[in-house]
Amino acid sequence: MKRIEELRATDPVIASLVEQELERKRAGLELIPSENFTSLAVMQAVGSILTDKYSEGYPKRRYYGGNQVIDEVETIAVERAKQLFGVPYANVQPYSGSPANLEVYFSLLEPGDTVMGLNLSDGGHLTHGSTGSVTGRVFNSVPYHTTPDGYVDLKELERNVAEQCPKLMWVGYTAYPRRFPFAEMARIADSCGAYLAADISHIAGLVAGGAHESPVGYAHVVTTTTHKTLRGPRGAIIMVTEKGLEKDPDLAKKVEKTVFPGMQGGPHNHTTAAIAVALLEAAKPEFAEYAAQVVRNAKALGEALEADGLNLVTGGTDTHLLLVDLTAYGPGFGLFAQEALDEANITLNKNTIPGEPFSPFYPSGMRLGTPAVTSRGMREPEMQAIGHLIAQVLDEVRGYVMPRDRAERTEYLKRFRSELAGNARLRELHKQVEQLSEQFPLYPELND
Ligand SMILES: Cc1ncc(COP(=O)(O)O)c(C=O)c1O
Repeated sequence: MKRIEELRATDPVIASLVEQELERKRAGLELIPSENFTSLAVMQAVGSILTDKYSEGYPKRRYYGGNQVIDEVETIAVERAKQLFGVPYANVQPYSGSPANLEVYFSLLEPGDTVMGLNLSDGGHLTHGSTGSVTGRVFNSVPYHTTPDGYVDLKELERNVAEQCPKLMWVGYTAYPRRFPFAEMARIADSCGAYLAADISHIAGLVAGGAHESPVGYAHVVTTTTHKTLRGPRGAIIMVTEKGLEKDPDLAKKVEKTVFPGMQGGPHNHTTAAIAVALLEAAKPEFAEYAAQVVRNAKALGEALEADGLNLVTGGTDTHLLLVDLTAYGPGFGLFAQEALDEANITLNKNTIPGEPFSPFYPSGMRLGTPAVTSRGMREPEMQAIGHLIAQVLDEVRGYVMPRDRAERTEYLKRFRSELAGNARLRELHKQVEQLSEQFPLYPELND
């Protein structure tokens, strides 16, 4: 990119790393389902002077002076969020998805209250009550699960809810390829008067573009990151729905107070501005076409992988995301897959699968998705090609078996990595990846 001259002059080390990352992205295939490419307009807002301003508080109610412009920026972002998602209240100040979710807990619950979210290794998010997160330590977390075929186990959930009525339930996932069951979860939550929070971080762009049902008629609160399918900067939004305000007319005020002064200080105004830009872009008809293409691409990629003999959890996808069960290659194969694909410049992540047979650190699946490659303009024929490239890479590492014995593992992985680095066929596949990627420039408007 041609726009970092000042950075290069001041700090050539960081400038060079920025350029290396750009080159890695340009030459590679980005299939991590929670990543995307923002527009240059979004990036310019993030890199703007708005980063310099302190503005604790809310529009017209700031602690510091000089916030006339910032007030307008935040008001525009809030109004666009309300309009796009059809909610009466939106808060655009959460620093990211995890703080946004924490803010929901502290708006609605007292420490020790019971919460239910999808179990981490079944596709839930850390902040939905995992013991690895404060949410699982401060609150009484009773996770729900997926069935062996990979769908949310609504029967188990219903039984648990009847026994220990939670105060809050989460619907919305991190590694789940099927439609999020908003209506079913709302029925179960309403049966015991629990709050239902929908975390649409992964699918916000699909919801905005009409490619996935909206949770707004079902949930009391909706949270989302802004940097995944929504194609905005790293940030988050908390929304309160009409249903939420009916349940508790003070809900919006509670969220507002929890965000500031409860858990955050000054908002990141450059991010707020970039969220406003992303919301403007997401309201355009082209974005609905983008969202539909993301899903078509994920389906096409899934079909291509299946044609090459790979197993998809649930047998396919309704969204932007695919979960591949690699147990046929051996339990714990996810790491071999991820690292071999990295060697070919195809980026995705290892992931647990339902009933994970090995371990969360050495899982037996991989998770991939199409938001970023779709932003680059790729369509079904490229998905076919990518599916085939992935299968060929995996063929190169077939036969590696993750040792169960930890002591053996270090040596084994050392050998695996050195063999990977010397694999000529992977280098050839790397070149093919580059040839495909280069046909889809990241910033065609800049000619690079
Ligand atoms: C469903 C869900 N919620 C929340 C988050 C947390 O977002 P962040 O990484 O911005 O804290 C993620 C991120 O992966 C997510 O997938």
